[in-house]
Order: sequence, then C-alpha cells, then structure tokens
Amino acid sequence: MTTAADQVLKGLFSEAGLDDPYRYYAELHKLGPVSLLGGDGGYAAVVTGYQAADELLRDPRFHVADDVFSDDHGGPGWREHPLLAVLNNSMMYSNGPRHLTARRLFHQVFTPRRVTELEPAVGQLVDGLMDQLAERFDRDGEADFMTEFAYPLPSSVVAALLGIPQDDLAWFRPRVERINDFLDVVGKTDEVLAAADQATRELSDYYQDLIVARRKTPSDDLISQLVAAIDAGLHEVSDYDLICNLLVLFNASFVTTIHLIGNGMWQLLDQPGFSAAAGSPAFVEEVLRYEAPVQFVARWSEEDAEIAGTVLPAKEIVLVMLGAANRDSLRYPSPDLFDAGRTDVKPLSFGAGPHYCLGAALARAEARIAFPRLLERFPSLRAARPPVRNPQQFLRGYKSMPVAT
Ligand code: HEM
Repeated sequence: MTTAADQVLKGLFSEAGLDDPYRYYAELHKLGPVSLLGGDGGYAAVVTGYQAADELLRDPRFHVADDVFSDDHGGPGWREHPLLAVLNNSMMYSNGPRHLTARRLFHQVFTPRRVTELEPAVGQLVDGLMDQLAERFDRDGEADFMTEFAYPLPSSVVAALLGIPQDDLAWFRPRVERINDFLDVVGKTDEVLAAADQATRELSDYYQDLIVARRKTPSDDLISQLVAAIDAGLHEVSDYDLICNLLVLFNASFVTTIHLIGNGMWQLLDQPGFSAAAGSPAFVEEVLRYEAPVQFVARWSEEDAEIAGTVLPAKEIVLVMLGAANRDSLRYPSPDLFDAGRTDVKPLSFGAGPHYCLGAALARAEARIAFPRLLERFPSLRAARPPVRNPQQFLRGYKSMPVAT
C-alpha cells in the first residue's frame, strides 16, 4: 500500500530532493508529526515534527539498528562483512549495556575540559589552513573552500585529539569516503560494500597498530588515555571494541563537521550581514538548525509503540528526520528563514537521548573558532561560482565551494 507520505518521500530521495529537501519536509509537516509509509522503501514511518522526534529519540522503547536488528533483517551473512561487524559493535549501533560501556569509557577521557584544552590547537590548525588558502588565492585567484578548509579542519582536529599523525590523513580520506558511500540511503550495491569492507580492514589494522604503539609508549592523546583506562580494568572493552569505536568516531566526527563549516560559510557568503555574528553560539546554532549536516537517523522498537498519536509497527525502521524537525513551524516561527537573532534555538542536529552526539561540543567549538578568524583574515571573501551540493541525502552540505577574495 502506498501512502501520501510515500509519494513525498519519493520526491525527497530524488535529485530534486537533494537540491531542496525542505519543500518535501513542508509537505510531510502538513501530513502530521509522524507519517506511516507503505514499507516498500524499507522504512515503516517518518517522524518530522520537532516534538515527536525529540520524544522518540529519548524514548527507551526505541533502539538504534544493532546486531539484533541485523540478525532479523540484514541476512545471515552480515557478520562476514568487516564494515557491518564493526558498525554493529560500535556505540553508535549498540543499545543497552554494550552502548553504556563504550559511552562510559569515552566520557571518562573525552571530557568538556579536554575540548577546552584542545581549543588553542584548533586555532592553530585554522591559522595554518588559512595560510594555505592565502597561498592558493595568490597562485590561482580562487580556492575550493570545502577541499582547502572545511574538510581538512575537522579531520586534523580529530587526528590531533586521537593522536593520529597529521601526515597520515591523506591516506585516511579515500578509505573514509568508501565507508560513507555505503552509509548513504541510495547506492548500497555489492561493489560499494566490498570497497567499504576493504577500507574497514585497512583502517582497523591502522588503529590496531596505533593501540599497540600507545600501549608501549603512551602520549597525551585520547587513544593513550583510552588504552590506559581499559588496561586499568575500569571498563570491559576489548581492543577490537576500541577499534570499532575509534573507526566510527573518526568518521562521525569530520564527515559531519565538514558540513557545519561549509554550510555556515555559505550563509556568511550569501548573507554578509551576518558577519558580525559569525563567532557567536547563536549563529552556530542557527546554522545547525537551518541545514542539519545529518538529515536523519533511524530507530526501531521491539513492540508496536505510539508516538504523537501514531502507532509505529514493531521491528521496522522509522526515519527520524532531524532536518525536517529543525524546520517545524510549530517549534520555530518562519522556519525557512535563516535568522541568527533567534532565541531558544535547540536544533536536533546532534540527535537527543542516549545516543546524543559525543562530539557536539568539539564541533561547535571548531565552528565558533573558525568563522570569525576566516572573516577577519579574508574580509572580502566571496563566492567565485555557485557551490556544488554533496550528492548524499544523509549528509547535507557541499562538495565544492569556489571562493575568492
Ligand atoms: C556538526 C558536527 C556533527 C554532527 C551534525 C553530528 C551529528 C550526530 C548525530 C545526529 C548523532 C546521533 C546519531 C543517532 O542518534 O543515531 C551523533 C552521534 C555521534 N557522534 Fe556526532 N556529529 C557531529 C560531530 C561529531 C564529532 C566532532 C564527533 C567526535 C569527535 C562525533 C562523534 C559521534 C559519536 C561517537 C556518536 C555516537 C554516539 C552514540 O551512539 O552514543 N560527532 N552525531
């Protein structure tokens, strides 16, 4: 059976939806905060209302898709795929005790203080990347902001945090991208999975070597501290568990932050009036609200479960549309207007509940530090040509953004 929401979703997951998902979200909002789907696309429902999305994400009846779910739906062979095995063993795709154990370990060492201590290093990385941008402008007259700044900043920051040598980052990029290709909603072919599996093997070996090295010679990085906490017997986490979580954390940290930086920069280029507010938390929150870098997350429940008056069927995937919830007119007046002067902005862009983003404070700090410095160093920064969209529904942002001074 095809529902009205199925029709809208078809448009959303098309080229037109990639260009402008918000007109489809507006259609979904008209259908209500929760809409049932026919199930042909593999999803049972979409949650688009802000209140309903927030409620569902905090509701203990709802789980992330984990190994239990994969055993039911993913076919018997999923454990043979390194990527799927790693994902399902990570905190992002675990529920209950396994999730809690990993979260506790990371919370012990990845503290708010740690983020504050990292801020000077973030500033230095920003300055270094701006030097490279300036060289690019001198040489070529323009530069791709995504390639030259928005990508390398968060990857360098997470590398500095974890203790991954900066020189290894070029090796990381294609491997991380192969994994991301598989995580998008469309294009999950066997070839894409095989490439992602191979990337997972290589990245896992890399992390294993790093763990061995830090165990032998600890440094002041996060991996050394995680290893020390595990070796002190405080957490029941194996090296394999740590590898799975590091792999997911590294990917989760910069494939998302790249779009916070890119989307924010586009607002500043498009609406120079906001320049004065660029470093304010309100500006960063509005960028997060207006263009959620992660457009949706998935949940399922063991039993039928009601949210906002609609019963969601057991053991089926529900899409929680963060990008739509942030544009709910019942929560934000004139939701399609970018307004850095809004008050009480609490976007769902980092999720909510037990899986709330572990790196939210770090991502916010990167944006707060980067935007004002960029505008101060390049006061006449402008778009050289229109930006090109990232071709993914899941991660909303730009693939390239040519800029000039
Ligand atoms: C603008 C940047 C970012 C955005 C938009 C973002 C978004 C999200 C969202 C929506 C979730 C929840 C997933 C769910 O509920 O299923 C999440 C979880 C997570 N994020 Fe982020 N993230 C960002 C940056 C980061 C950074 C910088 C790090 C690490 C340094 C990070 C690490 C994680 C991890 C490990 C989880 C899994 C937490 C769990 O399952 O308990 N993220 N993120």
